[in-house]
Amino acid sequence: MTQANDGAAAGPVLECVDVERRFGGLAALSGIHMHVNRGEIFGLVGPNGSGKTTLTNAITGFYPPQKGSIRFGGRDITGTPPHRVAGMGIARTFQNLALFNGMTVLDNILLGRHIHMRPSVLRTALYWWMARAEETRHRAAVEEVIDFMQLQSVRSELVDGIPIGMKKRVELARALVAEPTFLILDEPMAGMNQEEKEYMARFILDARDERGVTVLMIEHHMDVITGICDRVMVLSYGESIGTGVPSEVIADPRVIKAYLGSAHGAH
Ligand SMILES: Nc1ncnc2c1ncn2[C@@H]1O[C@H](COP(=O)(O)OP(=O)(O)O)[C@@H](O)[C@H]1O
Ligand SMILES: [Mg+2]
Repeated sequence: MTQANDGAAAGPVLECVDVERRFGGLAALSGIHMHVNRGEIFGLVGPNGSGKTTLTNAITGFYPPQKGSIRFGGRDITGTPPHRVAGMGIARTFQNLALFNGMTVLDNILLGRHIHMRPSVLRTALYWWMARAEETRHRAAVEEVIDFMQLQSVRSELVDGIPIGMKKRVELARALVAEPTFLILDEPMAGMNQEEKEYMARFILDARDERGVTVLMIEHHMDVITGICDRVMVLSYGESIGTGVPSEVIADPRVIKAYLGSAHGAH
């Protein structure tokens, strides 16, 4: 994983410093320190309810932290609203599929281009030649990602009818057409069979290696974590109980105890 090592030398691209997020009386996150280096695939694991999704929501501005700070690319982005975070090059997929049923695979992916589209649709429409040039650019970006994610065969189908593994792929494609530098994936392999998982792992590795995307990935399949993550952080009850190389972290007695103590398993 040469690129990841080069990335580590370049320093952290994302940093969370002493992040806290409460919901009423519940501390969903407290005292979180985390950094992700450029070019890394960084795993976030922990039992159900341990704060993994909340941390991604804190980073992307959906639920800003009440304490602590978040830096991205050297800028303080604490409390920056989601659309501006997206504009800075952070794209995400959601734990529960967020595709638009009744629309085709192609149209769902096209929606991921919206952050590159001009706000003044009317003006663009008046100058048809500008509109055409832009349309061509968007189409080219989308076609390239459809090829990359091997979605040609289902491009015209409604997303409603395609298997879950394909749906997750469409979501990743929609995130990639935004041309992000940083990708946040919330359980990208949930509900997948072994073959679909292996495909998805390959696409995530290729996104890093060929497109230079840094990845923060919530995942509970330990084979995936040890297989593709450079480093991992484990959360338990909103606190970090270990960060490091996956094989070492998952052998840590505290981590094993957190998982064994969880009634819901490693989600
Ligand atoms: N919007 C919210 N309102 C109230 N409580 C929330 C909200 N989001 C998350 N929580 C709570 O925060 C804790 C962490 O949740 P979450 O980050 O979704 O866990 P994970 O993704 O690790 O399963 C849970 O106890 C959950 O119920
Ligand atoms: Mg979650």
